[in-house]
Amino acid sequence: MSATSVIGLQWGDEAKGKIVDLLTEDHDIVVRYQGGNNAGHTVKFDGQTYKLSLLPAGILRPGVDSVVTGGVVINPRAFLEELEGITDRNGGIDGDLLISSRAHVVFPWHIAEEAVLERGLGGEKIGTTMRGIGTCYRDKAGRAHAIRMGDLVQLDTLRSRVGSITEHKNRVLAALDPDAVPLDAEKIFEEYRGYAERLVPYVTDTTTHLHKALAAGRRVLFEGAQGSLLDIDHGTFPFVTSSNSSGAGIHSGSGVPERAIDRMIGVVKAYTTRVGGGPFPTELDNEVGQHIRDEGNEYGTVTGRPRRCGWFDAVATGYGARISGVDCLAVMLLDVLSKLDELQVCEAYEIDGERTTDFPGQLEELAAARPVLRTLPGWNVDITGVRRLEDLPSQARAYLDVVAELIGSPIDIVSVGPDREQTIMVSRG
Ligand code: GDP
Ligand code: IMO
Ligand code: MG
Repeated sequence: MSATSVIGLQWGDEAKGKIVDLLTEDHDIVVRYQGGNNAGHTVKFDGQTYKLSLLPAGILRPGVDSVVTGGVVINPRAFLEELEGITDRNGGIDGDLLISSRAHVVFPWHIAEEAVLERGLGGEKIGTTMRGIGTCYRDKAGRAHAIRMGDLVQLDTLRSRVGSITEHKNRVLAALDPDAVPLDAEKIFEEYRGYAERLVPYVTDTTTHLHKALAAGRRVLFEGAQGSLLDIDHGTFPFVTSSNSSGAGIHSGSGVPERAIDRMIGVVKAYTTRVGGGPFPTELDNEVGQHIRDEGNEYGTVTGRPRRCGWFDAVATGYGARISGVDCLAVMLLDVLSKLDELQVCEAYEIDGERTTDFPGQLEELAAARPVLRTLPGWNVDITGVRRLEDLPSQARAYLDVVAELIGSPIDIVSVGPDREQTIMVSRG
């Protein structure tokens, strides 16, 4: 058995897409196992940019199979648009595409409910991507109003399920918002019947498929979405997403046991970003933060929102690394820091006068955390053309050493630009 997993260790957008694309070269199957089209993974090569939300980033490599397992919530319209976009650009996809019959389906009521709920939170907004992800996972947990990909094939049952759920949702929406426009069950059914016809050929039991593939020695790559600190159970609740976006989600989302994975790669930015609400101890709400945003083009892949930027936080990222159980790190976007004279790294928090390297479980404590910063010299050289670790300026190497030491994991990959080629594979002898 051979499986690798790629997990974000911060609050998402760590450049997992780039790493997945790179590693796909040595894999046969790429698997998305949680989240939905709240994810936005960017892949760049040959002067082309691809943005993937529901399809695994490996779909762009010829001969590689793509699997979307039961832990993912699927908006069929978004899925088909993405698939068509790639087909239009590349003349089709080359490997097999499989979708789990267990995956839950996002319906218009999920998006309508999320809009009402977020509006109702006022200043306490989570700042979600408004894709109906949380409301779909909520219905999955609630069971009574959930529809899975496997249910789309049963057209008679689908029509009556859509009818009764729409009736219920219209009552809920009207109670929450007197101006809510009622949803039309028949219209939704007709729309989803069309999606079902196009998607059914891909729907199968992906769990069994993956078990057999692993037993046959096929190399599987798991592509995490979001990041460990956005994990519903282990992240900065309630400012999190609705799935297990740390390493904890691989098994629950795919049915492949953790022990099948022999290399767990934690992806980190050389600094920190966050989209949406929630405490962010190293946030730079100043010109340095704006400089990082400009240099790193830190605007959301999905929503276009400016990302909040700050220094590398070893307390938060170290916690992410521990809950996900990573073997090594991929440090991304190092080039973004190149023009700064001085850099800072958060090595501890001070909470109520106490210094700690433990990441608080309670939001109020995190909000009260003051970062203890270590200052490091910048390098002031363009590093985007560097391909070997020894060719990096000594200050950049020293910066990486501090990151590795504070997280307690070796660095296997360093990224110095968005392109596939702009990568340093670190060999450890
Ligand atoms: P993901 O969600 O984790 O896949 O990350 P996103 O795609 O949302 O955001 C990462 C952004 O950084 C994308 O625009 C990438 O093209 C870009 N990127 C990836 N690696 C690097 C890098 O090393 N340097 C720079 N400057 N940009 C990078
Ligand atoms: P990738 O895979 C960054 C954030 C949202 C919001 C919170 C909840 O590209 O790294 P949701 O719509 O999931 O209910 O929103 O989670 N969020 C992400 N932030 N990258 C992502 O995905 C994210 N997916 C969700 O901004 O704060
Ligand atoms: Mg992203």
